[in-house]
Amino acid sequence: MRLTVIGTGYLGAVHAACMADIGHDVLGVDVDTEKITALAEGRPPFYEPDLDDVLTRALASGRLRFTTSLREAALHGEVHFICVGTPQQAGSQAADLRYVDAVVDGLVPHLPASCLVVGKSTVPVGTTARLTSRIASLAPAGVRAEVAWNPEFLREGFAVDDTLRPDRLVAGVTSREADETLRRVYAPMLAAGVPYISTDPNTAELVKVAANSFLATKISFINAMAEVCDAAGADVVTLADALGHDTRIGRRFLNAGLGFGGGCLPKDIRAFTARAQELGVGPAVAFLDQVDEINRRQRTRTVALARQLVGGDLTGRRVTVLGATFKPNSDDVRDSPALAVATALHRQGADVRVHDPEGSANARVAHPELACGADLLTACQGAEIVLHLTEWGQYREVDPVKLARVVREPVLIDGRNALPHDEWRAAGWTVKALGRPAPSDRPPTARSGERLRATITSPATDADRAGARAPALPTGRA
Ligand code: UDX
Repeated sequence: MRLTVIGTGYLGAVHAACMADIGHDVLGVDVDTEKITALAEGRPPFYEPDLDDVLTRALASGRLRFTTSLREAALHGEVHFICVGTPQQAGSQAADLRYVDAVVDGLVPHLPASCLVVGKSTVPVGTTARLTSRIASLAPAGVRAEVAWNPEFLREGFAVDDTLRPDRLVAGVTSREADETLRRVYAPMLAAGVPYISTDPNTAELVKVAANSFLATKISFINAMAEVCDAAGADVVTLADALGHDTRIGRRFLNAGLGFGGGCLPKDIRAFTARAQELGVGPAVAFLDQVDEINRRQRTRTVALARQLVGGDLTGRRVTVLGATFKPNSDDVRDSPALAVATALHRQGADVRVHDPEGSANARVAHPELACGADLLTACQGAEIVLHLTEWGQYREVDPVKLARVVREPVLIDGRNALPHDEWRAAGWTVKALGRPAPSDRPPTARSGERLRATITSPATDADRAGARAPALPTGRA
């Protein structure tokens, strides 16, 4: 099938390469010339495991090309996928749909024949209906462009696998033809037994925001439990393990720590709240404000814990932050919890060095005030405290004995509860983590629990709160 994929960010570039890989004739489109040049040369413009292989294979097959021209796209596609970013609007919780609208406005007047326009971006419920009217007014006489919504659930770091082997496909359609067209697009996945849910567009749009809201709620739930664990002298990791054995709950997305970030979960729950308010059902999702608030609080709590561990004042203290990206196996630093903490520490006067295996370049652009490098030992040289804030696999491989030799003080905050604490302690490190009072801190009685509450939940200052606030989301990247 002749497909176009418009918007070649984290979502679109992977979708374009994977659709060509399964046999379609694909034209990828973006306004960013540099990105298009890189992709056409087989160089992914961002770090995503396996994307380079799929891209190289697809280009070599002759089934994948790239352009910056929406006119060319209009002439190529029988199905047009919209994969542009829907970032948070400046000064509002709502999603900014200007890139989606710009695609429609630039594409539709050039359409030579009837076709299907399929949205994959995350959008407020009702967008398909709105775009249907917009497209009808822009389409050339005699041309009918139907709109469908087919949300994407891929995770960065697993994007290729999630696209080729999704948990499910959701198609929000208004006609049998549109449904059949999407079934043909995804025929290899359907043949492999991937569940395909055909529904109306409103439900399809809602599935995506509901899924992300549920995941965000699960993370904030366990982080709320971490706060209770700190006050009670209990261990949140053991708690999560025990909860996770209940198959109704499940262990995934119950990793307590610094919380969620990235270009999706934070802005999606805010946009959902804004849309629910417009629909008059704000109270139904008001809990998402709490989810957001709990999530931001973990950043504040981490900064407060670091300050407490260096003796109450961060001014001039050498701090090393391990991790800049919002999650491992990505170079994406959008709304990164690790960078939010690093900048808050910097604002409180600390001399901060940030290490990240893949995200240093993006971190330097987003936060030129931070020293970011790719050499771990150099970054840790002379550190008075090390904060492990993104759980890259390579940090689990670090030898704590060797690292103890280069730092000034062997003090670690494990912001992701992902390092082997016993090994680090055996190597002489003081190890702290949210929701996990150190063994010696555990209160044998309620009275010492009182003491612990005072210690671990050291009060956050206004500076923590200001510094750890989510940075504004950059616009224009899917
Ligand atoms: C998310 C959704 O998972 C995906 O389905 C959707 O299409 C896009 O948004 P992604 O942004 O790639 O994907 O990241 P995800 O793996 O969901 O992690 C989000 C954040 O939550 C990360 O910052 C991660 O570190 C954090 N997280 C995740 C936790 O803090 N604890 C957990 O247990 C799981």
